[in-house]
Amino acid sequence: MDARFWIEQLGLLPHPEGGYYREIYRSAESVEAEHLPSRYGGDRAFSTAIYYLLEHPDFSAFHRLKSDEIWHFYDGSPLILWLIDPAGALQVLRLGRDPARGEQPVRVVPAGCWFAASLEHPQSFALVGCTVAPGFDFVDFELAEREALLRQFPQHRALIERLTR
Ligand code: GUN
Repeated sequence: MDARFWIEQLGLLPHPEGGYYREIYRSAESVEAEHLPSRYGGDRAFSTAIYYLLEHPDFSAFHRLKSDEIWHFYDGSPLILWLIDPAGALQVLRLGRDPARGEQPVRVVPAGCWFAASLEHPQSFALVGCTVAPGFDFVDFELAEREALLRQFPQHRALIERLTR
């Protein structure tokens, strides 16, 4: 089963950050804005989930969300998550099946972190799931502007140049 198989079988479509996705769950109920932190500025579904597929040499470009995002590994090869926290600390998380190689099948990206994803191996892909609560809304999704991110985190120049467009 290759990337093409999963893209077709699961009906995945291109995502603005790179890769392919389809939303597979959006809770019927929502939380009203007055009960959420003010950064949301509106009602949000309790939770949402997507399939997400990344194929080498494509990458998920640096972006950030207002909710924590839980990543689950389903198929393919290890995926690397590159996180830059608001203080500028870099964290590299491997999502995959082999703990002996530093991989874990579930990883969490904290709200407000800039993050990107790439494949560990050439000619590989990863099929994963991403769950957020409160649920995803594109107004909570911010794709990084390369020059602005470089000004804020000049110590990560090479990484930012590689994983922004
Ligand atoms: N729905 C559309 N895009 C996304 C995304 O990047 N993450 C999550 N969790 N849901 C989405």
